[in-house]
Amino acid sequence: SELCLHLRHYRDDGVHHYFYTYTNTMNSSDTVILCTGCVILMATPLLFPTTLSSHATSLFLILHLCLYVCLSPADIISTVEFNHTGELLATGDKGGRVVIFQREPESKSEPFSQGEYNVYSTFQSHEPEFDYLKSLEIEEKINKIRWLPQQNAAQFLLSTNDKTIKLWKVSERDKRPEGYNLKDEEGRIKDISTVTSLQVPVLMPMDLMVEVSPRRVFANAHTYHVNSISVNSDYMTYMSADDLRINLWHLDITDRSFNIVDIKPVNMEDLTEVITAAEFHPHHCNLFVYSSSKGTLRLCDMREAALCDKHSKLFEEPEDPSARSFFSEIISSVSDVKFSHSGRYLLTRDYLTAKVWDLNMESKPLETYQVHDYLRSKLCSLYENDCIFDKFECAWNGSDSVIMTGAYNNFFRMFDRNTKRDVTLEASRESSKPRAVLKPRRVCAAGGKRRKDDISVDSLDFTKKILHTAWHPNENIIAIAATNNLYIFQDKLNSEMH
Ligand SMILES: *[C@@H]1O[C@H](CO)[C@@H](O)[C@H](O)[C@H]1NC(C)=O
Ligand SMILES: *[C@@H]1O[C@H](CO)[C@@H](O)[C@H](O)[C@H]1NC(C)=O
Repeated sequence: SELCLHLRHYRDDGVHHYFYTYTNTMNSSDTVILCTGCVILMATPLLFPTTLSSHATSLFLILHLCLYVCLSPADIISTVEFNHTGELLATGDKGGRVVIFQREPESKSEPFSQGEYNVYSTFQSHEPEFDYLKSLEIEEKINKIRWLPQQNAAQFLLSTNDKTIKLWKVSERDKRPEGYNLKDEEGRIKDISTVTSLQVPVLMPMDLMVEVSPRRVFANAHTYHVNSISVNSDYMTYMSADDLRINLWHLDITDRSFNIVDIKPVNMEDLTEVITAAEFHPHHCNLFVYSSSKGTLRLCDMREAALCDKHSKLFEEPEDPSARSFFSEIISSVSDVKFSHSGRYLLTRDYLTAKVWDLNMESKPLETYQVHDYLRSKLCSLYENDCIFDKFECAWNGSDSVIMTGAYNNFFRMFDRNTKRDVTLEASRESSKPRAVLKPRRVCAAGGKRRKDDISVDSLDFTKKILHTAWHPNENIIAIAATNNLYIFQDKLNSEMH
């Protein structure tokens, strides 16, 4: 049995209406909830009948499906991000919406409900806009979401589209004041003559409501497309990077930012390289890294100069002249860079590989992992269908011992850095039933020997790509965005202990 959640959205007279339809294939009872406005609370838990597989399989990253949510086809997920303790998971989509999931606390009556993420709140973060001066449409697509560490009862997150970054406050309300003297329960002003005695208003419990409100809008600072935002470990500043510049912001100040990197050449014809991703060091607030389309990483220290155009360290792998081809530069472009939790290593993703770099070694990566080397012979057709420009992200697990990144055909890959084992798993409706163990998949290269259940390179579906993934900060729970579906997988070992 599976449970489908359909999110539908339409706009009427400037008011946003959201529909959710739940379909439980088990008893096919549909629930429709209609809310108006931008904030919705989902009270219905998504619970699955629990049928844990009894297969005694290797414990290495054997995961089972914990939640399966399918959204309507236009809602392609464009980013996924856990908060710093992993209890909240935010996704952004092409329609400019943000959906926040919350992990259910363990309950005695439902021993397997621990780890299940239910929809907590949904809101419209960005709207399509039009730049009249440049005659350009500005997409509402959410490029990145970053959580701020919690400081009071409310949660804050930053979301960005190509141009504008917004700070959102997410707070809960479960009480409302009642018993006003001058207005009735609907808020209408009472006739003064009917007020004969004074009463003290009281707070009465009500159904939990999640309110999301925009706190700050950081606009007009980017000429090019924003590809990254990163909150600094001082928790007061953050940076935003576009193709040619990186800006530093104070979280409270929206009308100015400081430009810390500018690689725009005086003459745009001399442009050979663009910034593809940027991130702050997790512990040292003066350090940040940015990656480029030429496959290089630059570590910058903000203590050295106000403008960090001169990097402190340049990480670059020397090119093998024998392997040079028309595609070399395209496939070496770094699509994502992530500091390890320890701050010692950098993880990068380019088209065919994932690499781990040691901050103390600039000359070459410490480890190189082949994500889908079988595509090397297919680069021509991947160039023709534009897939070669896909930007895959990568993620560390909580202890920096395993890395994860996506591939085609709804496959994603994991590499254990210690044992050097790797696995290909599939996030798809057909292959993963709730609470079932994911079967490792294998792609057989063209001309290679084909084993049972192998998939041939020629039958890979290049329209099904896993670009966005996130790993829970301290547990083996991962979130995988497969076009418009979000999958949350959890380590089997974990859940069996409950
Ligand atoms: C993550 O979200 C949970 C649930 O709201 C909250 O309790 C926790 O403090 C958040 N973690 C951080 C570090 O903000
Ligand atoms: C990282 O992965 C390894 C190998 O599966 C596992 O032993 C470890 O618990 C994971 N760390 C976290 C914090 O999830």
